[in-house]
Amino acid sequence: MSVAKKEYKRVTTKSLVDMKQNGEKIAMLTAYDYSMAKIVDGAGIDVILVGDSASNVMAGHETTLPITLDQMIYHAQSVIRAIHRALVVVDLPFGSYQSDPKEALRSAIRIMKESGAHAVKLEGGKEIKESLKRILHAGIPVMGHLGLTPQSIYKFGTYTVRAKEEAEAEKLKSDAKLLEKIGCFAIVLEKVPAKLAREVAESINIPVIGIGAGNGVDGQVLVVHDMLGMTHEFNPRFLRRYADLHLEMTKAFENFRDDVKSKDFPSDQEQY
Ligand code: KIV
Repeated sequence: MSVAKKEYKRVTTKSLVDMKQNGEKIAMLTAYDYSMAKIVDGAGIDVILVGDSASNVMAGHETTLPITLDQMIYHAQSVIRAIHRALVVVDLPFGSYQSDPKEALRSAIRIMKESGAHAVKLEGGKEIKESLKRILHAGIPVMGHLGLTPQSIYKFGTYTVRAKEEAEAEKLKSDAKLLEKIGCFAIVLEKVPAKLAREVAESINIPVIGIGAGNGVDGQVLVVHDMLGMTHEFNPRFLRRYADLHLEMTKAFENFRDDVKSKDFPSDQEQY
């Protein structure tokens, strides 16, 4: 029986903090549509991220920058309809929070109100502090995102590991402390050295969920299409593939094509 059907208690921001305290690792995956979210939730994944990686894996853009707030809300609505247990966090997309705190709050409110999501995620530290505070003051739970922040890809220039140098590592550590202090309930830490990630996780009481950040953090997140092996051209070191759906799906499509062409499908039993 699936985990969700067993009527497990819903995951909340508080239960994630409790999990960190109890040493239980947090499992988080992305989902962008109803059918995928239903499977992810049923499998007992704690947090579903409606990531702006939808821009890449769903829409085929090269970066996360083009996806709009309306499109994020559409994806979030589809995910919310599917879930029974997981906490659903939605990315504020590029351009929806960087210009001023009031706009950031308006964007966060739209996500919460129009999709029914449980929390939002924003990329950045000190530079977006006022926006984070305004959203938090409105009672909206916020997950931070530090390290490699893909919305800043044109500033970084590459998707390589961040914070290898002392100055950037120091900024990351102080940003993590700041996010905890102002009230974020968790932080995603992307593509930073494992030693630094462990140090950050040990220095704060809120969970740190890593992607390419080693095993010293409080949980792990992967993009669902990557871990299922659908995006087989994407091969970073941190990615563990749990299936080869690219191969399985290609085989299925080829078999269907062959069956149609050979008139094997539909058979007598498959028609009315
Ligand atoms: O958008 C996304 O999928 C993310 C994860 C990589 C953490 O932010």
